[in-house]
Amino acid sequence: MKAAVLTGVGADLEIRDDVQIAPPGPGEVRVRVAASGVCHSDLSVQNGTIPLPTPIVLGHEGAGVVEEVGEAVTTVATGDHVVLSFVPKCGVCEACLRGQPYICETSAMQAAGGLLDGTTRLTSDGAALHQMACLGTFGEVAIVPEISVVKIAPDVPLDIAALIGCGVLTGVGAALNTASIQPGDTVAVIGCGGVGLNVIQGARIAGAARIIAVDKFASKLDMAKQFGATDMVNPDDGDTVGQVMALTQKGVHVAFEAIGLEATITAAVDMLRPGGEAVIVGVPRMDVMLTFNAAFTFLYLNKSVKGCWYGSADVQRDVPKLIKLWQDGELKLDELISKEIQIEDVNGAFEAMESGEVARSVIRHSH
Ligand SMILES: NC(=O)c1ccc[n+]([C@@H]2O[C@H](COP(=O)([O-])OP(=O)(O)OC[C@H]3O[C@@H](n4cnc5c(N)ncnc54)[C@H](O)[C@@H]3O)[C@@H](O)[C@H]2O)c1
Ligand SMILES: [Zn+2]
Ligand SMILES: [Zn+2]
Repeated sequence: MKAAVLTGVGADLEIRDDVQIAPPGPGEVRVRVAASGVCHSDLSVQNGTIPLPTPIVLGHEGAGVVEEVGEAVTTVATGDHVVLSFVPKCGVCEACLRGQPYICETSAMQAAGGLLDGTTRLTSDGAALHQMACLGTFGEVAIVPEISVVKIAPDVPLDIAALIGCGVLTGVGAALNTASIQPGDTVAVIGCGGVGLNVIQGARIAGAARIIAVDKFASKLDMAKQFGATDMVNPDDGDTVGQVMALTQKGVHVAFEAIGLEATITAAVDMLRPGGEAVIVGVPRMDVMLTFNAAFTFLYLNKSVKGCWYGSADVQRDVPKLIKLWQDGELKLDELISKEIQIEDVNGAFEAMESGEVARSVIRHSH
């Protein structure tokens, strides 16, 4: 099969068509990947922000059709349509049992770049290929853990379903699950890419009265308005925190950071009103450290900072919920797809993401 492979930090992805696939092991399923979104986290593996072993098939935002199931698989069958979850949900570890499946203990294996037993089912050019997030949706086929798939109805278009797999679950989940937005609140969303636009629409659904979008590209601020932002702030027009303070006087109740930079995470905390909450969604480089005056920030001003992994989602609960919101016209998903591309164009999709041209590029695998 064909797959886009990262051979080392900084290298362009190589399109290989010689990738060999081993059969699914016990508790694994073989999925024909129909579509994969291109998320900034894929680019972050390529540029070294997110360290993963290479060679690796990137891609963690996908959907497809089950082609074969391994021994002991009971929850899905050949022919089922599925959204691929970038965090497996075992359902029995301590995190899953206390309602935090987004940090399921099985996901600790992901840093090794293999499946749950640490090995991978793919080889190319005589070497094992790792799979990002137990998935690797930049390949036409993925062998994945059964606990990484969520069955969906066959009438949901697979390109829409793919986006739910990361950007939508993360962004909408940040607003609905992670944050405690109250109806009428004022929120800010820093970074209006595939994830940030979903935070904006999640905040709208949560009842935020005012949603301030912050992005360095005017094109993204236009998209933010389409997704529900009421005010737009461009850092090129002056200090971001100063602009938000001028708009709100007191600051915002909730600020989301969806870029992953030290300066913008700090700005998210600085633009909070007393008692406000900063939700960190963007993934920074491993060496980023933050400094706050502890007494003022956390006690006298009573601000809090929350990390948000995978939108604090329970994928089995939230995928159907998000599909329903889309079917009811509450969630804009078609509008997130700026471009449908072939796998050969994946390096161009990284460039389009960095230049602010797209909300999301979606790879359509041609089988
Ligand atoms: N927490 C999670 O579970 C999770 C899941 C998916 C993605 N992410 C992370 O979320 C972040 C966003 O992902 P994405 O796919 O939306 O990326 P993206 O590239 O589509 O969007 C980032 C946006 O930030 C804007 N931006 C960049 N630098 C800026 C600056 N200095 N000031 C203002 N705006 C700036 C860009 O113009 C762009 O619109 C990434 O760090 C990604 O790794 C986290
Ligand atoms: Zn992602
Ligand atoms: Zn678990």
